[in-house]
Amino acid sequence: MGIPTIIGVIPIERIRAAADRARPYVLRAPMVPVEGALLKLECLQPTGSFKVRGFFAAATALPAERLRRGLITVSAGNAAQACAYTAHRLGVPCRVVMYETAPQLKIAGVKRWGAIPVLMPRDRLLAWLANEEWKKEPETFIHPFADEEVRAGHGGLGLELLEDVPDLGRVVIAVGGGGLVGGVAAALKASKADVEVIGVQSDGYPLWKRAFESGGPVSVSPETIADGTTAPFDPRMFEVLKRSVDRWLIVPEPRLKAAIPELATTAKVVAEGAGALAYAALEQLPPGPSTVAVVSGGNIDPALLASLLA
Ligand SMILES: Cc1ncc(COP(=O)(O)O)c(C=O)c1O
Repeated sequence: MGIPTIIGVIPIERIRAAADRARPYVLRAPMVPVEGALLKLECLQPTGSFKVRGFFAAATALPAERLRRGLITVSAGNAAQACAYTAHRLGVPCRVVMYETAPQLKIAGVKRWGAIPVLMPRDRLLAWLANEEWKKEPETFIHPFADEEVRAGHGGLGLELLEDVPDLGRVVIAVGGGGLVGGVAAALKASKADVEVIGVQSDGYPLWKRAFESGGPVSVSPETIADGTTAPFDPRMFEVLKRSVDRWLIVPEPRLKAAIPELATTAKVVAEGAGALAYAALEQLPPGPSTVAVVSGGNIDPALLASLLA
């Protein structure tokens, strides 16, 4: 599909270089303990999710002429905001193609950084992506999870975990398109191959578990509050995820809904649906080695948060 290097394993030097480029713009997110695990608070990143790691890494790798043309991406919301923020900080224009059902908060987050949201129905958006229609656009397209520099940038999170948790045994990560888990797994497995990488999805969108069970493409209609994890099946990511994820956990939607107020009251952490998935999955793991659950985002619609807290 036009990006030939994507299936390759990302070398650790490339991850280090990507993390170095992104470092001036991203937070070394702190960790807080909960029972049986540490939470890595990527919800505290600029724009409220880990996505800035990958977008800064990818944008700063572009030749000056391609960066000057501006950036365009496609997103359920968090990549959109990260792309908008990246473009703003680097002084270039930006447009983002989003589901028309994207939460208002995420659409407002895009506009806040001066970018233009282009809203499409889910089917139209998936066709835009599948037909590579971005090639007709003037801006430079950054794929939100398949782009190798994006994944290398996300790998910076893995490097931080290796430094901060010397006896790291398990990392639990929400999976949508697979960019986050792919990048983190590449960083971890290059340095500490015995760390178990656990991928999590909701039972309202168990795309990858079904894809691996059936051995190929599947299509699922999302019925989940974890809107950040509703990316479609992508054959390139099938290969990446096969190598990256050692174990899959599926969180029932009611458990996910309970995890959000639990995180707020016990850990003082505000997580969106996708951001709470890894934490919500912890109860399925037997006690074991040092475990980190990544709270990948905090951009929850305030009305949804209020209703879950009520
Ligand atoms: C909060 C949050 N968590 C997890 C993910 C999944 O990331 P990826 O698509 O790289 O698997 C996303 C993607 O948008 C997200 O917004």
